[in-house]
Amino acid sequence: MKAVAYTHCHPVTHEDALVDLTLPDLAEPRGHDLLIEVRAVSVNPVDAKLRAAADPAGEPRILGFDASGIIRARGPQAHVFGAGEEVFYAGAVNRPGSDAQFHLVDERIVGRKPKNLTFAEAASMPLTSITAWEALFDRLRIPQGTAAEGKAVLIIGGAGGVGSMAIQLARKLTGLTVVTTASRPESRAWCEKLGAHHVLDHRGDLAAQAKALGVTFPYIFSVTQTLKHWDAICAVVAPQGAVCAIDDFITLDIGKLKSKSASFHWEAMFARSVYGTADMIAQHNLLNEVAKLVETGVLRHAMTKHLGLINAAHLLEGHALVEGGTMIGKAVAEGWE
Ligand SMILES: NC(=O)c1ccc[n+]([C@@H]2O[C@H](COP(=O)([O-])OP(=O)(O)OC[C@H]3O[C@@H](n4cnc5c(N)ncnc54)[C@H](OP(=O)(O)O)[C@@H]3O)[C@@H](O)[C@H]2O)c1
Repeated sequence: MKAVAYTHCHPVTHEDALVDLTLPDLAEPRGHDLLIEVRAVSVNPVDAKLRAAADPAGEPRILGFDASGIIRARGPQAHVFGAGEEVFYAGAVNRPGSDAQFHLVDERIVGRKPKNLTFAEAASMPLTSITAWEALFDRLRIPQGTAAEGKAVLIIGGAGGVGSMAIQLARKLTGLTVVTTASRPESRAWCEKLGAHHVLDHRGDLAAQAKALGVTFPYIFSVTQTLKHWDAICAVVAPQGAVCAIDDFITLDIGKLKSKSASFHWEAMFARSVYGTADMIAQHNLLNEVAKLVETGVLRHAMTKHLGLINAAHLLEGHALVEGGTMIGKAVAEGWE
């Protein structure tokens, strides 16, 4: 099978930062695994971070987490799907990735692909939908429906992959006023299109802009650059409010939340799959819910850039885009030569 991998850590400009490979076919699926024929993948910051910093010491490591495709075989304990079904999923960080023609994935973290999306559009959604859903509903425990009406959520970093889903979920599934941030006219316009009520500029004084709106925030989802925004977050979080962050490798002074009895939460979307938690099927359930919401027109996909076929050159273009830090929505590659 064809696959895209990296063998050593290189900057994105290096010609061998990602390489095209032909590898032996995969073994039959075991346990809860599905064998997926991969049709499309999207690029996430985690792909670029691993490629740049997690050295596989010459052993090819296949990256890729978001994927959509068709089930070609099932393990003996896989009972949720039938062969031939179309699915989308975000995979697991401790297993080989989805940038390959065939891929093994545990069915408890796989959802059925929305019927009204192409494979490319569907591949733009799983990782960011899982992250945004778990952050808003599992960590911050925002109630769905009308119970939070009159309150506001602040989503810092609204136009990127995760923000694109968080804005929509907060706007469409809760009664909250949705306040987000963007620093450029095009990223601001994207946030407004997704349903944000107010868009602040994260390059300006975030606390002053938030205070000018006349609200404090019982809920803050900080999608990126949390350390940079930490003082502003602590200034505008409501007494007894909650903050959730997803950044990698940062240390925060959570003592600054104490006087407000505010709580802090981490979201790590790979936690359920890496630790095999008893409730890991929650990701299957939430992806199916997302599929239903897409099919009924409540949510939209986040694909903004089609990179072309799945190969090293095109995926590297996607890595360069996410490393640039100005991504709007998601970049997707589709099909094989
Ligand atoms: N823990 C987890 O489970 C998990 C899951 C997914 C992602 N992540 C991490 O979360 C981060 C965001 O992921 P993503 O996919 O949303 O990234 P992304 O798509 O690359 O985010 C790009 C966006 O970041 C915004 N941005 C740039 N600088 C900013 C700043 N100083 N303050 C606020 N926003 C800023 C940009 O907005 P403008 O262009 O308008 O400036 C741009 O739209 C990454 O570090 C990723 O690795 C963690």
